[in-house]
Amino acid sequence: MMERFEVRDFLKNVEKLPTLPGIAMRIIEMANNPKSAADDLSRIIVSDQSLSAKVLRLVNSAYYGIRNRVSSVKQATVILGFNTIKSLALSTAIMDKFATTGVVEGFSRGEFWKHSLGVAITNRILARKTGMRKDEEETFFMAGLLHDIGKVILDQYFHEEFVRVLQHLNTYGGSFHSAEKEVNGLTHAEIGGLLASQWQLPEELIAAIRFHHAPQNRTEHVKYIAATHFADILVKTKGFGSGGDQDLSGLDESVVGTLGISEADVAVIVGVEMDREYQNASEFLRLMEIES
Ligand SMILES: [Fe+2]
Ligand SMILES: [Fe+2]
Repeated sequence: MMERFEVRDFLKNVEKLPTLPGIAMRIIEMANNPKSAADDLSRIIVSDQSLSAKVLRLVNSAYYGIRNRVSSVKQATVILGFNTIKSLALSTAIMDKFATTGVVEGFSRGEFWKHSLGVAITNRILARKTGMRKDEEETFFMAGLLHDIGKVILDQYFHEEFVRVLQHLNTYGGSFHSAEKEVNGLTHAEIGGLLASQWQLPEELIAAIRFHHAPQNRTEHVKYIAATHFADILVKTKGFGSGGDQDLSGLDESVVGTLGISEADVAVIVGVEMDREYQNASEFLRLMEIES
């Protein structure tokens, strides 16, 4: 009988799991402090030269569509707002830590990040369609970018269990998530959720990561969860990168109702907006040195 991989096995190894980069931790601490202001945020970002250079590259990329060149983080914060710059800096610091380009047993890190970026931009589109506030859009983006982070953790820290899933997928097909349930027990969604709470990321991010394959009967942060679930499937239909499977059977159609979008909306999203936004966001891939 093959050994299963359960929450307790994961928790036993919790000390060896990656901590967030120091700069990301400082950003989260600052964001959790109600007294902090835009100045504190730019001071933290500017203290890390490589991070601030990357933030400025993204701010000046097509993704934000700002007409005049922004030359300082402080100015960027004024133009785009506190939450946007906070999420952007946090995403960049996290990507920096986990972005590699290797391939194991058919699983490509580059394709993985393209898939993640695809879900990120689609989440941002869905946030807009469902009337979320401007400053919430970026949290949707982050939820998409990090939704499958549990796979990276599996790959790097529980490699045997990771390979077992890939082999099962290779032989039987289906989704990564169902293969995990079959051979391991614990899924990348749960692993990602555990990690995100250990990192003290915002509650809505933890929920979106943890429940992106099980959106039914949720009562909190439902739009974050529904959007991430739906975006994951839409990105697979578009073929932006690959998160390890192209299985479309797992769609829970109730999410469309939760998001309150129409069939016509979906047609425009898939037919026009996703391509445009994905194109505009290609600077994120270049920052990770992934060919877009
Ligand atoms: Fe997933
Ligand atoms: Fe995914």
